[in-house]
Amino acid sequence: MNKLENKISKFFNRKYCLLTGSGSTSMYLIFLTCKKKGIVVFPTITCMQAVNAAIFADMKPLFCDVNLNDFTMSVSSLKNILNKYKNVEMIVPTHVFGNSCDLDKIIEIASKRKIFVLEDAAQSLGSKINNKKTGSIGNASIVSFGHTKILDCGGGGGILTNDSKLYNRVKKLYHKIPKKLKNSKELFNNYRNIYYKIKRLIDHDDKYWKLLYEIQFLFRDVFIYKINKKIKNNINKSLATLQNNLSKRNIRSNLYKKYLKAKQIKHPANKKGSICWRYTFLYNGNRNIFFKKARKENIDISSWYPALYKMYSNQKSNFFKNSNIIDQQIVNLWVSPEYSVKKITNNIQKINKILDLL
Ligand SMILES: Cc1ncc(COP(=O)(O)O)c(C=O)c1O
Repeated sequence: MNKLENKISKFFNRKYCLLTGSGSTSMYLIFLTCKKKGIVVFPTITCMQAVNAAIFADMKPLFCDVNLNDFTMSVSSLKNILNKYKNVEMIVPTHVFGNSCDLDKIIEIASKRKIFVLEDAAQSLGSKINNKKTGSIGNASIVSFGHTKILDCGGGGGILTNDSKLYNRVKKLYHKIPKKLKNSKELFNNYRNIYYKIKRLIDHDDKYWKLLYEIQFLFRDVFIYKINKKIKNNINKSLATLQNNLSKRNIRSNLYKKYLKAKQIKHPANKKGSICWRYTFLYNGNRNIFFKKARKENIDISSWYPALYKMYSNQKSNFFKNSNIIDQQIVNLWVSPEYSVKKITNNIQKINKILDLL
């Protein structure tokens, strides 16, 4: 391990850290160590890049439902999947939006079947579960320093584990990963534009999920790449700012929780030790109109994530009772330090006004 990897492994109280170009690359390397076509279970509310890492490695993603109050993997839904499929190779509990999932319980269930738990802590840097840092708990964990993450270092991701065999395997596989493309920014913008165009088609007809699936393979090298010097330097510098960043995020998310008052809003559960990546809640009303009005007021607002089972699997919709509600009602607001308290407070007032009139 190099100096920075040593520093990060110590931060997470792990024996090994391998730094890569992104969280996706880190996941991809771990998936490459699995059997071809092996089943990997994700929560259906998660980031597409995590699932792409599995399909790029020729694994078969399946999904379980999530909890309505924190959007993380539902333990009872996971049990249903494990009862149905006897050959699950890996489970990827995800601390989505920074909300920590019920990892201890998931590990207990997985270990009975000797299933590997890959903890996805891409959105939860600095969060804790029972005083243990997220990223320090699964058989292996991944973290991300990519675009808009808790520490945005312009890229970077890491694999953390105590498993020497796994570490040696991913380290060997890492040599085959390509360098970051010179025009990756431009390609990423193209990807994003195409994504939103297809997403608009999907809003009218589910058949376009297939098209979205196909284009993922064309842009693979935009997301899977080696780390470079610049990113390493950025990570090294920004680690010192983490505590300050986290306390600012806490202040911002507490403001949303306390002052967003509309009756159509269902706030997320309080999770001790969790730190928000985005403040995320449910809105039971016409979300399109709400977003239009909010964006007109220059408020950054998004509806991540759609329920991904529709894109990657043939699983039946009625298995995803909570996720289907979340898919229609989810709303994310920004809590990152560059949004001043004044701006957040103003936005809250504007949103309360908009929702009052809807
Ligand atoms: C939950 C989750 N997992 C994995 C990833 C992949 O991380 P990266 O953007 O560094 O490739 C992301 C972000 O895109 C994410 O939000």
